[in-house]
Amino acid sequence: MRGKFITFEGCDGCGKSTQLKKLSDYLTEKGVAHVFTREPGGGKISEQIREILLNGKNGEMTDECEALLYAAARAQHLSDKVEPALSEGKLVICDRYIHSSYAYQGYARGLGVDFVKKINAYAEESYSPDLTIFINLSPKDAFARKKGADENDRLEQAGLAFHERVYEGYLALAKDGKNIVTVDGKGTPDEIFAEVLTALKKANCL
Ligand code: TYD
Repeated sequence: MRGKFITFEGCDGCGKSTQLKKLSDYLTEKGVAHVFTREPGGGKISEQIREILLNGKNGEMTDECEALLYAAARAQHLSDKVEPALSEGKLVICDRYIHSSYAYQGYARGLGVDFVKKINAYAEESYSPDLTIFINLSPKDAFARKKGADENDRLEQAGLAFHERVYEGYLALAKDGKNIVTVDGKGTPDEIFAEVLTALKKANCL
């Protein structure tokens, strides 16, 4: 049987990494065959594209170029890592996916949902997640939690107003989207993880 595809989303510093680590420990303990991956990245070529995208020296990159590079990294990642794992029946857990492109490029950069949809049509049609978990934490709360942000990260240089727009984008996506579950990011890591597990079980992903 083909594996399930789960994605995690949220603003920078929302606590995704902590939850992904907890999920990894849980799945290993339960003996569930799974693969963890991330976007942008997750393979040789897509990690090279990631380096271009997150390099703080690339400040002159146009918004369109940025959106297309995320889409390009995604196409390669799906072929290199996601498809092989799904066809082996493994659970694939991806740290960020298309919702990030909608929130960051579509809403926050102002390119619009239609533009992002168009350039990601292939991914959306063939690899729509079985479940997306949105960890709902505002940028103010996230920044307060994430002390010492990386100054060289081009996206983190964008400032609070940009991240507020990202957040608004996520809230809109979570309201309208299918297969997306919102988890309250203000709880303790254990409380959040309990909600994550409930969502996974409810969606028959565990
Ligand atoms: P990363 O350091 O992995 O951030 P995080 O730990 O918060 O996930 O950097 C990934 C950055 O790329 C993050 O700021 C979100 C951004 N991003 C987009 O703007 N569009 C996308 O489609 C994806 C996948 C990520």
